[in-house]
This record gives sequence, structure tokens and C-alpha cells, in this order.
Amino acid sequence: MMDAQLVQLRYGLIGRSQAMISAVERILQVAPTNLSILITGESGTGKDVVARAIHGLSKRSGNRLVSVNCGALPETLLESELFGYEKGAFTGAVERRKGFFETAHEGTIFLDEIGEMTPQTQVKLLRVLENGEFSRVGSSDIQHVDVRVIAATNRNLELAVRERDFREDLYFRLNAVQIRLPALRERKEDIALLVNYFGASTAKDLNISFEGVSDEAIEVLSSLPWPGNVRELRNMIVTIVTLESGKYITAEMLRPHLPRILKQAEMPSVPQLADNKLVPSGGKPSDQAERELIYKTLLTVLEEVRELREDLAQGDFGNGGKAEDDELKVQQLNLEQNERQLIELALERCQHSRRKAAQLLGISERTLYRKIQRYNLDDQS
Ligand SMILES: Nc1ncnc2c1ncn2[C@@H]1O[C@H](COP(=O)(O)OP(=O)(O)OP(=O)(O)O)[C@@H](O)[C@H]1O
Ligand SMILES: [Mg+2]
Repeated sequence: MMDAQLVQLRYGLIGRSQAMISAVERILQVAPTNLSILITGESGTGKDVVARAIHGLSKRSGNRLVSVNCGALPETLLESELFGYEKGAFTGAVERRKGFFETAHEGTIFLDEIGEMTPQTQVKLLRVLENGEFSRVGSSDIQHVDVRVIAATNRNLELAVRERDFREDLYFRLNAVQIRLPALRERKEDIALLVNYFGASTAKDLNISFEGVSDEAIEVLSSLPWPGNVRELRNMIVTIVTLESGKYITAEMLRPHLPRILKQAEMPSVPQLADNKLVPSGGKPSDQAERELIYKTLLTVLEEVRELREDLAQGDFGNGGKAEDDELKVQQLNLEQNERQLIELALERCQHSRRKAAQLLGISERTLYRKIQRYNLDDQS
């Protein structure tokens, strides 16, 4: 069996926290089997990485790993993509086509965002899981495949089952082995390790050296809530190391790179807020919990302000008086220049794949599309 640390490095699954170590142990244990796996965790916690590791460590690694995003396609399309179709099965089906299950024969299929699958497709999936059987759309002939299924979701499936949105039998079937990935805020002890890892690998890509990060900077990073988890932290470090050319990262240096919503605020001095009893201290909540609550509130408020400001800048509400404020305009300009640069950089690094660039930036493809148009970056793709 391969050594856990080696696996972590090979697949880029960094972390020494107990939660991460347990996840890696689980991966090593189940990878060689044919068991179906359910990977759960918030967005950006590494579900894709884990799926690749499981396939890579399995006896199927010589065959294909086919990834399907079940949330991205409408029901009928998803079914014909998964199971294939016969000529004439529907308008446009001009010839017979293989589905992903056939393509993944003797390999692995990764069903991402499984929680978005409709009940009708869930039934068909259950059938493949139980006996490897399915039919192409437009045919009643039974096909057989040998495919290992890995599913992932950031939804609470148990809740979906209770709300009759997800089939219980399918849930039990998938949930036989669950790998739960912790949110980044649940494993803050890994932040220093991750920053150094992303710092070093970015520097290596750029052919420069990375001078490290101060304890104080790690402290600031550890106090953030990280709704986008590792993806968000990674994007931030890649940006800082790139723009600062690998220089030693200090807390001061973080300020302009903090999530946009925090940027205009002071890096909040939390203990003072807490003393002012802005947050009721019912019972004895830990410092940490209070801090998080305050940050969350602050983030929401600042996000709203930012959205309003964007709308104003785009003239959605006419020429609002406040947007005329000079200082504000300068800030807006800086933000836009930063953003434009970042987007250009991301597009370049992803060979102009918008899907990948959006993922790298931690924004939706649609948002990226809007921004590309806004900054006239359209011509390159
Ligand atoms: N433990 C980790 N160590 C190093 N990098 C990680 C780790 N977890 C995630 N990443 C990196 O973070 C980014 C997001 O990971 P990934 O795409 O696997 O998240 P996800 O859980 O599939 O998110 P989503 O729900 O949005 O699809 C990737 O660049 C990945 O390499
Ligand atoms: Mg994913």
C-alpha cells in the first residue's frame, strides 16, 4: 500500500489536521475496491481532487475516469449523455451514440453534483449501481458495463432524502462509503502548510523563489471564514505570489488582496468589537466563534454595499449621487484594474478555457463571461 504522505503529495491533497488525515486514510482503504463512494464537502474543499486520487490508486487507473457534472445539464440531455441513445430516439438523434457509462467501461465514472439529479435519472442510476445494467435512450435492449461510481455533492443529501427530493435507496447505496471533506475553517491548523505549498508551487511555475510567510499573516488568514475553502485560499496566494514576485508575505501585504468585500474595511480589530457587545455573548462562546460571527455579518453587509456600488457604477439606477464621490471612484478604478489583470492572468494560465479560468478565480462561468465582456477581453478566445 502506498504511503499516505506520498499520496497527499502526488495528488495535491495537503493537510496534517486530523480531519484530513482521516480522509486520506479512507481514500487509501477504499481506492483498491469496487465500492461506490460518496464524497461530501462544501465547494472548494477538494472533492474533485479526491475523486482523481481514488481512481488513480485503483486497479482501474489504466482505464478512463469520466467526469459528469449532473447539475449542468437538463434532465433529458443528462440521460442521453449518461446512457447514450439510439438513432431516431429524439429529434436530432441522427445516429446511435455511446453514453458516458459505456465510455467508462472498466474505468470510473465521477458523478459530480449528484444532488441535482432528478428522480427519473436517479432510478436509472440505481439500476446501473445494482447490476451494471442500463438501456440506451430509445431502446429496450439491456447493456452491461463494469463501471465504478464515485459521486460528489455539496448538498446535504440526508435532508434532500427527508424532503423526498432524493431517493432513499440510492442514498443508502451511495453512502455505503462516505468521505467527508472538512471546510477550511474547520482545519485552520492546515492554513500555514497550504500557504507554503501554494506559494512554492506558484513560484516554481513562474521560475522565481518564494520567500515564505509571516506568523502574523497566517494569523490574519486563519481568522477569515473562507466560504470558498481551499480554492479561495489558493487563488489568493497565487495572486499575491504572482503580483509580489514571491516576496515574504507580511500581514500588511495581505490587505489589498483580501476578499474584495473585506478590502475596503479596516482589517477588523475584532476584540474591540466584541468588547462593545455588538455580538451578544450568551453563555460563554469562544473568542473564535464570536470572531467568526462578526466576520460573517461584516461580510454580508460589505457584499451588499459592493453590489449596490457595482449597480450604481453600471448606471443601473441612473447616476446615483454617492457614486460621484471622488475617493470612491478611485477605489473603484483600482478594483477594476486589479480585477482585469487577474482575469487576464487566469485566462492566460488556463489557455483561455473559460470554465477553468472561472474555477481558478472562484467565480461562476456566467460572472466571468460578463466580466470578459465588460473589460473587452473577448477577442482572445
Ligand atoms: N487538500 C488540498 N490541498 C491542496 N489543494 C487543494 C486541496 N483541496 C482542494 N485543493 C485545491 O483547491 C481547488 C478546488 O478543489 P476541488 O475542485 O477539488 O474542489 P471541489 O470540492 O470539487 O469544489 P466544487 O464543489 O466547487 O466543485 C483545486 O485547485 C484543488 O487543487
Ligand atoms: Mg468539484
